[in-house]
Amino acid sequence: MTNRFFINLVCATLVPSHLCGGKQNSKNCATASTHRRRRRSTMALRINPVSFQSEIYRSFSFPQTKNLRSPKFTMASTLGSSTAKVESTKKPFTPPREVHQQVTHSMPPQKIEIFKSIEGWAEENILVHLKPVEKCWQAQDFLPDPASDGFMEQVEELRARAKEIPDDYFVVLVGDMITEEALPTYQTMLNTLDGVRDETGASPTPWAIWTRAWTAEENRHGDLLHQYLYLSGRVDMRQIQKTIQYLIGSGMDPRTENSPYLGFIYTSFQERATFISHGNTARHAKEHGDLKLAQICGTIAADEKRHETAYTKIAEKLFEIDPDGTVLAFADMMRKKISMPAHLMYDGRDDNLFDHFSAVAQRLGVYTAKDYADILEFLVGRWKVADLTGLSGEGRKAQDYVCGLAPRIRRLEERSSARAKESVDVPFSWIFDRQVKL
Ligand SMILES: [Fe+2]
Ligand SMILES: [Fe+2]
Repeated sequence: MTNRFFINLVCATLVPSHLCGGKQNSKNCATASTHRRRRRSTMALRINPVSFQSEIYRSFSFPQTKNLRSPKFTMASTLGSSTAKVESTKKPFTPPREVHQQVTHSMPPQKIEIFKSIEGWAEENILVHLKPVEKCWQAQDFLPDPASDGFMEQVEELRARAKEIPDDYFVVLVGDMITEEALPTYQTMLNTLDGVRDETGASPTPWAIWTRAWTAEENRHGDLLHQYLYLSGRVDMRQIQKTIQYLIGSGMDPRTENSPYLGFIYTSFQERATFISHGNTARHAKEHGDLKLAQICGTIAADEKRHETAYTKIAEKLFEIDPDGTVLAFADMMRKKISMPAHLMYDGRDDNLFDHFSAVAQRLGVYTAKDYADILEFLVGRWKVADLTGLSGEGRKAQDYVCGLAPRIRRLEERSSARAKESVDVPFSWIFDRQVKL
């Protein structure tokens, strides 16, 4: 029982399905299928704030959202099969369904006015975190110039450096690149948010300007990694491109309910997660002797850090003007767990691709369950959640919950990793089905 909290937490983020226990997953899937038909209000009653240990496990194990989000289930619903090897293309394309209940427009309409009222603030305080295009780096700055005489030579050098890097590193770098390449999904996600969405596609509000320019900055991340990986000759580009197509078609469900409160907490978390992940792939590339690749990953990480600054500033402002609503939103996101943007990843073959990719990232220390707890703790400190005063009863419960969550996650992670000694090799289509240890 004690392990179930950790299982559910990390399944949404990192831990491979073999560590979660297949039997338990099937059972949980069945119970969740019953529960998801219930109204959200019923679920809210069941997902209580944590007051004592046994409640923690119950509240986290109940919704089983990971199992429902897992590619194993979502893609199974797409393709009408749950077998391990599925490459059928006979059926017309059907977007996968998110099988948990989707909640929309949960923010009371009067709160939309809050976002209107801080447009001036956003213009002065958020847009400054965008870089003018003329001062931005472009992918071409880090890649061999196809118009230069030395192009072939530079490509040979790039490939010689890439040869020294192990397969497991490439699995993680490919996963990170695919995550970046699903950018249309993230722009869509931002434009689901009430009160801040880009209403026309070229809206002049600061929120819309930010979203478009943020997207344009992010677009360079996938471009750069995609082009680097193409030139490296180490990976199966067709399988990777297929995975991107599947992923964009699948979308994502961060469970932000059209609420910019939930949305900006989610993006604050995610930008920091990508900052950590790209920072670690930079560090590993350096350790493998590839300084140019380290520079590529490090440069992307710096962008993510700047984005994190902007999103955490928006949430900080919300804590200032509506502490109760914001702490409730923070606790809500953490109870639902922050699902990774590429959690619906699929390559046409591996139903548990995201779990497998996450397990390799965890083993290499690129992005780990400990990072998840560290990000949470960082945000609690950044927003001074422990110091909030004047909260409602519910608000105080939410405050206690988020302030006490990181140490609990860490304790459970330590216990779980002490138990999880078993190691499995899994083939990744991205590297021509070569096996990598999870
Ligand atoms: Fe990015
Ligand atoms: Fe970013």
